Amino acid sequence: MTSEKSTKTDEGLIDPISAAPGFDETESQIAVLGHPIHAMSVAFPVALTFCVFGADVLYWWTADAFWARSALWAAGTGFLFGMIAGFSGTAELLLVPGIRARAPAWTHFIIAVTLLALLGANWGYRLYGYEQAVLPYGILLSALCVLMVGITGWHGGKLVFDYRLGISKGN
Ligand code: HEM
Repeated sequence: MTSEKSTKTDEGLIDPISAAPGFDETESQIAVLGHPIHAMSVAFPVALTFCVFGADVLYWWTADAFWARSALWAAGTGFLFGMIAGFSGTAELLLVPGIRARAPAWTHFIIAVTLLALLGANWGYRLYGYEQAVLPYGILLSALCVLMVGITGWHGGKLVFDYRLGISKGN
């Protein structure tokens, strides 16, 4: 139950968001032995997105097809792991009432879905010729993905560290 204190603003007005049922229930439910699956899975798409950009830069520099092929694989696995992270995050968002009630969680969802669309485009584009794809559009897409993954990850961190969503309350 939400306490009277937490629903009132400084001016004494009732805040309908914090009065919502389950507003204080913010613990992760999509977890293995208390470890949130979303937090565990996001490291893969983040790292692989940087790898795609790195491989593109190395292909540009060396013209070695190995790097273009590496970028194709990193883009594909980054996208697939991103989808896994996306599904676990969406389940958390929809199932946990205190997460669902907070606007920043929905902001994160919108930024993340934009990122996933870009990761998918960056992979799909390369399937029609992974060497020709790199310059110029592949590397430009990779740079945009690096920017977006940075924003998404930073914002996800805010959900945990500032809003304390998806964390254990201990005992
Ligand atoms: C597409 C739908 C997504 C939703 C609805 C979503 C939702 C959430 C939620 C609710 C949290 C708070 C922690 C938790 O409850 O587990 C979170 C944290 C986070 N999210 Fe997402 N997320 C999505 C996708 C992504 C993607 C694609 C990435 C990055 C590739 C990402 C990066 C992060 C990061 C870095 C954190 C902080 C984890 C931590 O420090 O423990 N999210 N996300």
